[in-house]
Amino acid sequence: MANTRCRRITAAAALAASLFTQTAVAGLYPGVSNLNHTCSLVDPILSCSSGASDPSAVDTCCTETFGGLVLATQFWNTYTGFESEGQVLPKNAWTVHGLWPDFCNGSYTQYCDLTRQYDPLPSPNTTTGTPDGTPVPAWRGPDIGTFLAPLGKLDLLAWMNAHWVAQPGWRNGDFWGHEFSKHATCYSTFDVECYGPQYREHEEVADFFETAVAFHRRLPTWAWLEASGVRPSNASTFSLADFTGPLTQGFGAVPYIGCAGPKYNTTDAGKGSSDAGYTVINEIWYYYHVYGRVQRQQGLAVDANITGGRLTNCAQTPGALHYYERTTGSEV
Ligand SMILES: *[C@@H]1O[C@H](CO)[C@@H](O)[C@H](O)[C@H]1NC(C)=O
Ligand SMILES: *[C@@H]1O[C@H](CO)[C@@H](O)[C@H](O)[C@H]1NC(C)=O
Ligand SMILES: *[C@@H]1O[C@H](CO)[C@@H](O)[C@H](O)[C@H]1NC(C)=O
Ligand SMILES: *[C@@H]1O[C@H](CO)[C@@H](O)[C@H](O)[C@H]1NC(C)=O
Ligand SMILES: *[C@@H]1O[C@H](CO)[C@@H](O)[C@H](O)[C@H]1NC(C)=O
Ligand SMILES: *[C@@H]1O[C@H](CO)[C@@H](O)[C@H](O)[C@H]1NC(C)=O
Repeated sequence: MANTRCRRITAAAALAASLFTQTAVAGLYPGVSNLNHTCSLVDPILSCSSGASDPSAVDTCCTETFGGLVLATQFWNTYTGFESEGQVLPKNAWTVHGLWPDFCNGSYTQYCDLTRQYDPLPSPNTTTGTPDGTPVPAWRGPDIGTFLAPLGKLDLLAWMNAHWVAQPGWRNGDFWGHEFSKHATCYSTFDVECYGPQYREHEEVADFFETAVAFHRRLPTWAWLEASGVRPSNASTFSLADFTGPLTQGFGAVPYIGCAGPKYNTTDAGKGSSDAGYTVINEIWYYYHVYGRVQRQQGLAVDANITGGRLTNCAQTPGALHYYERTTGSEV
């Protein structure tokens, strides 16, 4: 459960991470001034387009030049493990996982600025995920959720507690710290220089959370499925197409559909099959390129396999999938 992102790090991403962390003192690019990042003065440039490819030719605070393939990711979990502490799941809604900046070629790096490391359980524990990477020290301070009150963002904190719920066994605030430090530090537009000479401590943290929330709120996975008659059920099973169809229609491009649980051919139902896909639906990843800084919230939906990657790790056999109902008492 410690690894919240079940994707292997490619060798290329690992190399990129090792190169960048050597220079990552504050932000992703050395020597960026904290002046003159008024993004409304420039026409928004689409990330991953040719116009966004050279960070020295654009304002990296106004154009996403580092992680231009943006993934709004959602979880379907059936319990939290901390129900007794009030950490519960929202009724009729998927929850936020994160808003990730992948490289335009689909690989990615992580923990790009260790001066903003607020993850108490770094995963992986080095920037590359290998022993020769830079160690990511565990954060021992108060959880990142506490950064929001001094910024007057208790409404955001409340919404996050309801909708940005950690996977079983994690506390929400620890999970948000993980998402921020592992992923948000790898956007050029959330670098602190972008916030000017009167930058307030943690301002970009709140800005990132607001941005992730804004993307999530436009992706009503539960309702898109429900409108097609696909509701969680512990009595029946589903096919991949039950999810791909309505979500592609709702989003406007093909999302990635993620599963966990046992592989189909290790289950009784799939005995003897060659389908080794996983059987419990638990994640959707929606892919975008973004116009201007991601904070503008203007994404262009793109297919999840735009870089050639696969569209699912789920079993493809008809009727192989579970979309489980939440545990009684885990959902309010
Ligand atoms: C993907 O893009 C990143 C950033 O530009 C680069 O460092 C990496 O080498 C690329 N990976 C591949 C497989 O091309
Ligand atoms: C900021 O913009 C002003 C007005 O264009 C210009 O005079 C100044 O040199 C710029 N400063 C930096 C650090 O870019
Ligand atoms: C990372 O985790 C591995 C496996 O648990 C451990 O062997 C290694 O010492 C850790 N590295 C750091 C830098 O904490
Ligand atoms: C499941 O399918 C995979 C891929 O076809 C195969 O390699 C594996 O041996 C199968 N496992 C079982 C338990 O049948
Ligand atoms: C993405 O997947 C679709 C459907 O499987 C396929 O038709 C398309 O060629 C794929 N695109 C890429 C870039 O691999
Ligand atoms: C449905 O099944 C899942 C997976 O076994 C379980 O976690 C959940 O509690 C069940 N929900 C209900 C309402 O029985």
